[in-house]
Order: sequence, then structure tokens, then C-alpha cells
Amino acid sequence: TALQQPPTTVDGGRRLLSWLTTMRRDQPIWRDDTGSVHVFRHREVAAVLSDPATFSSDVSQAAPDDVPNFVEGSLAATDPPRHRKLRRIVSEAFTPKTVAELQPRIVELTTELLDEVAGRAEWDFVETLSNPLPVTVIAELLGIPVADQPKFRRWAEAAITATNEAQVGEAEFHINDWVAEQLREMQDYLLSHAKRRLDDPTGDLMTRLVTAEVDGEKLTDNELFSFAADLLFAGHITTTMLLGNSVVAAHENPEALAEIRADRSRVPMFIEEVLRTRPPITLTNRLVRQGTRIGEFDVREGGMVVAWLLSGNHDEEKFSEPEVFDLHRDPNPHLAFGHGIHFCIGAPLGRLETRIALNLLLDRYQGWGPAGEGPVFHDAGGLFGVSQLRLATTPA
Ligand code: HEM
Repeated sequence: TALQQPPTTVDGGRRLLSWLTTMRRDQPIWRDDTGSVHVFRHREVAAVLSDPATFSSDVSQAAPDDVPNFVEGSLAATDPPRHRKLRRIVSEAFTPKTVAELQPRIVELTTELLDEVAGRAEWDFVETLSNPLPVTVIAELLGIPVADQPKFRRWAEAAITATNEAQVGEAEFHINDWVAEQLREMQDYLLSHAKRRLDDPTGDLMTRLVTAEVDGEKLTDNELFSFAADLLFAGHITTTMLLGNSVVAAHENPEALAEIRADRSRVPMFIEEVLRTRPPITLTNRLVRQGTRIGEFDVREGGMVVAWLLSGNHDEEKFSEPEVFDLHRDPNPHLAFGHGIHFCIGAPLGRLETRIALNLLLDRYQGWGPAGEGPVFHDAGGLFGVSQLRLATTPA
């Protein structure tokens, strides 16, 4: 079972899931060749994520100097006590109540995007809907003018490229010239957008960011950039993958699909089970701040811990018949949005977009299934989702 690198989900997740099952059974806490310690069970994953004093999220020190550092200063990479203060600046924009107010606009956007393929029997879900929808929603939250949104999509793609080249358990980024250039362009753009909002405040998130103070001080330029970039990077590809994974899960589980079609109030539970079985983010890394022990392993200060969310979600100690897609699983304490203080701030938004998209698909189509070569999955450590998804659809 000792592999140099865990499998990616390029085959739809089969090899990775089977490796994780073996690891939970044989080596639930495991040190890899690089010295990183991996935890696979729900309880250790939750324990690591609940202890930010020992397990730090500040894994940013390894970014190269000449590239805008979009991790340093970002919410996801900040530890307490500053984390709580930063999070407070934006938390109000992401409560279920505030997010619910976005519903009409998200319905409108989704409708427009689906209208582009109306009448076609075959189309690509990622290109048509799951890629453009989340990036447009985030751009609108930040107050980015529509004309500039194509740039946003390009930068988001750069982030995916950087992620694709990263290795599991490694803190370092591998950034090619194109990605570096995109990040620099994005930084310039976001900072000039921030200046615009300083002069001309509106109700958008960027205005919140430029006017906010933490301990009596405004955010630095780098923090502003990281924050905005973080929202784009953390909120875009994840939601794109959740949307795609939901569509894949629907045609793989025709009974569940029939049930949600008959009773739309079950759509949210369907989405939770998609999040459990196919979480877009399969793992998260932490840096050991103080030497400690996990089980029988000493983890030294400065070492890395890999917390496997996907594995916790399939832990047979926590979930009965974890391999079964169970629409009625209740409670469903999956870890797809993380756990503890860094629990995904965008969870209500990601859930809402997915709920709206599924409902509109159910309205429009009697059925759908894979077309062409079928789904193409990302080949990147840490991600679980489709990059292409050609569908054959039957109108309702
Ligand atoms: C944090 C997953 C959508 C913004 C996280 C974390 C996970 C996650 C696992 C915790 C990372 C860690 O502890 O290291 C997801 C999934 C999504 C999603 C599966 C699919 C819908 C979004 C959206 C946004 C967003 C739509 C914003 C527009 C963030 C931010 C953090 C975060 C800012 C850092 C929070 C903090 O550190 O306090 N997300 N996310 N996410 N997510 Fe999401």
C-alpha cells in the first residue's frame, strides 16, 4: 500500500477510493516518503482541523518571490487570532440569509447560460454552465464590471493550472511563466479595482475590503489582493466541480434522481450526499507549529500533515455503508467544506448555486446521460471533479 504518490481521481476516483479504504484499514495514520503525515479517519481529520494552535494553515512561505503571493494574507492561510478578525470583515456577505438574496440573480444567470444550448441534444456541461456560473457570481459579488469578466475566467484557469501542477503534501508552488503573468495581471487589476472602490464606494465586497480595519489598520495591498484572489480561487473551481459531480451522481444513481425529480425538497439532501461521496477538495494541508503526536507518530515542528477529507467522508466508523449513495443519509457529517474555524465561508453560496442549477436542469430535461467519451476528470492531487462533461439530454 505504500505508494510514492496517492492516485489522482483521473479515473473517476475508483483507484483513490480503494487506496483510501486500504489505508484506513491498515495505516490510518501514515508517514510518506517526504515525511508528511497523512490522516485518513474522520476522527483524526476533524481533530487536526479543530486544533489550529498545533496545526497551522499558514502554508504560504514556500511561494516563489517574483510571483504575487496569493496565499499569504488570505483567509484560508491565516491563523488565529488574526483569522477571526479577517473573517469577520466578509462573514456578513456570506450568511445563508444574505446569500439567499442572490437567488433571483443566480436563477437569471443560470437560465441565460442554459438558454445558449436550448434545443441541442448534446452539449458540454462544464463549458456551458458549471465553469461560467460560479466565476460570474463571484465577479459580481466583488463588483467586477461584466466587460472584465472574461479576464477573471482566464485568471481562474491559471489558478487551476497551478493547482494541477502541485504535488500532494508539498507546500511549494510550481508556477510556470504563463501562470505567473496571469497572477501579476490579476494583482494589478484587483488593486486598481480596489482604488476605484476607495474613491467610489458601493455595497459590494471589494468596498467592504477596502474600508475594513483590523486592529485599527486597513488591509495591506497584498492582503486585499489575496482576499479577492482567495474568493475567486476558493469559490470558483470548487463550485464548478460540485456542479459537475452532482450531474454525474444523478445519472449514476437513477433511483435517487427519480426521487428528487418527484420531490424537489430532497434536492438539498442529494447535494449533501454528492459532497460526501465526491467532495471537490479531497484533502487539506496543515503545517505543524508545535511538535506533537498523532497516534504513534511523532510529528515534528515544521512538518506537514495531510488531512484527507475524502477519506473521512468514507470512514466506515462514521458512516454506515459509506460506499452507498444514500439520498436519505441523516445526519450527514461530511467534511467536504472542512471543519473548525476555516469551515468554508462560501458553503451557503456553493449549495445555493448547485440547488438552482439542479432544479433548472430537472425543469428542462426529462433525462441526461454522458455523451461522447463521457466525463473527463481532473488529473490533480487534491481535486475531485470533471473538467469536461458532454451530456446527451432529452427535453422535458
Ligand atoms: C474554505 C471547500 C465553495 C470560499 C474551504 C475549505 C474547504 C472548502 C474544504 C476549508 C479549507 C481548509 O480548511 O484548509 C469548498 C467546496 C465548495 C466551496 C467543496 C463547493 C461549493 C466556496 C465558495 C466560496 C468559498 C463559493 C466563496 C465565494 C472559501 C474561503 C475559505 C474556504 C474564503 C477560507 C475560509 C477560512 O479560512 O476561514 N472551502 N468551498 N468556497 N472557502 Fe470554500
